[in-house]
Amino acid sequence: MQINTRVIAIANQKGGVGKTTTVVNLAAALSKMKRTVLVIDLDPQANATTGLGLQPQEGVSLYPCLLGTQQIADMIQPTPYENLNVIPSEVNLSGSEIDLAQRPDRLQIVRNVLQAIRDANVFDYILLDCPPSLGILMTSTLAAADGILVPMQAEYYALEGLGVMQNLIERLKANGANPALELNGILMTMFDGRTRLSTDVAAEVRNHFGDKVFETMIPRNIRTSEAPSFGQPVVFYDPSCRGAEAYRDFAKEFARRNPTRSAEADTEETK
Ligand SMILES: Nc1ncnc2c1ncn2[C@@H]1O[C@H](COP(=O)(O)OP(=O)(O)O)[C@@H](O)[C@H]1O
Ligand SMILES: [Mg+2]
Repeated sequence: MQINTRVIAIANQKGGVGKTTTVVNLAAALSKMKRTVLVIDLDPQANATTGLGLQPQEGVSLYPCLLGTQQIADMIQPTPYENLNVIPSEVNLSGSEIDLAQRPDRLQIVRNVLQAIRDANVFDYILLDCPPSLGILMTSTLAAADGILVPMQAEYYALEGLGVMQNLIERLKANGANPALELNGILMTMFDGRTRLSTDVAAEVRNHFGDKVFETMIPRNIRTSEAPSFGQPVVFYDPSCRGAEAYRDFAKEFARRNPTRSAEADTEETK
């Protein structure tokens, strides 16, 4: 069976929950497992771009593709890492809300722009790093994805945030914008097993969402928060720290749940 590129949006309307850290390290760990990965940075803050060692550059992002002035293939940049490419972000992306607002095709525009790389079918995974908002760009991005991965921090009100995401998924399915959209999974981030709050919230989320919650939980880890200032994913910056170990475990679980054709070529070394 031909298995095509999987397009996964990493989204949560809350900021600071570990979306970008998850995109950067999931991508890095998958690339080490010999999966071909494209990260698309959709947050004008460009944290995924710099976290992978690149500097934002005017005119190199999804923005000109949304306007129809560039081909998406020309926006793909190599990173210092094998199998790992990125379409960087730039500050102009923040203007896309206004550009898209008037367009009748606004909900389909990201899907249409991505179609050429889906058709080329050279990537196992395309990971979309979403901004913390519920704007038009984010909605159009969710309309383009096969699944949504929601990182969440174990804290009060975390479940309310998840409710918002679920509601959005249901609406995008119901209104025809993306009938096949699914909640790919929920990843608990910055988990601190020593606190009652973390363990209580994690238990409650599992209660509600069952096996939609990934078994792997990402611990709070200093090295993980330091790595971006060195422009490196923690899985390369300090491969032996607990954060790196957790993201490698998560990547294995993610790849198992989202098989691509590369799974067939798996050796013991990459499993
Ligand atoms: N597992 C972790 N341990 C410690 N700090 C983390 C961890 N994950 C993320 N952080 C830090 O928390 C902050 C928010 O994370 P980030 O991935 O940028 O969230 P988002 O993209 O959702 O806004 C960043 O400073 C990041 O370095
Ligand atoms: Mg972010």
